[in-house]
Amino acid sequence: MKNDIKEVLFSEQDINKRIKELGMQISKDYEGKFPLLVCILRGAFMFLADLVRKIDIPMSVDFMAISSYGGKTDSTGQVKILKDLDTSIKNRHVLIVEDIVDTGLTMDAVTRLLSTRKPASLRIASLLDKEERRLLPIKVDYYGFKVPNEFVVGYGLDYEERYRNLPFIGILKEKIYRKE
Ligand code: IMP
Repeated sequence: MKNDIKEVLFSEQDINKRIKELGMQISKDYEGKFPLLVCILRGAFMFLADLVRKIDIPMSVDFMAISSYGGKTDSTGQVKILKDLDTSIKNRHVLIVEDIVDTGLTMDAVTRLLSTRKPASLRIASLLDKEERRLLPIKVDYYGFKVPNEFVVGYGLDYEERYRNLPFIGILKEKIYRKE
């Protein structure tokens, strides 16, 4: 698996350190608000699991599975809900936990949908922010790292369902997804 990685961008230690900082910030900002963390499956499962252990205020979690139609390394913004939330988010302080915001099309669709359910507040925590590729002005309220315009995998992020189990985040070699 490691042979398919062009460059490691963030090591396990880098990720742990940054998530600790994010957890502290979120704990401070949501004190007394009993936030609901909404994990977007499948890419954000690892980030959520590590993030919640760094949050030291009462909170709850729920999961939403979506699929975005698109090419192998691009999304189109048309999202289909494969698994909806089990929790009512009305009057809750909702924090969406995502793996990466790229064009912003997916987060635009998800935030528009969740807004119709009248949460008390709605914010986004994304481990990675590929800001350069943004097509819609999605604001990431909490981000782990900014990434360049490259296809990255590991720590929950996949290419065709593979590489999610890498403990670090790295750039996938182009030859893996540009097979002619
Ligand atoms: P967006 O709708 O273009 O913002 O794309 C969001 C989704 O595309 C993410 O939730 C990922 O599933 C996927 N994605 C975008 N860029 C990458 C990447 O570099 N690696 C792995 N998945 C990515």
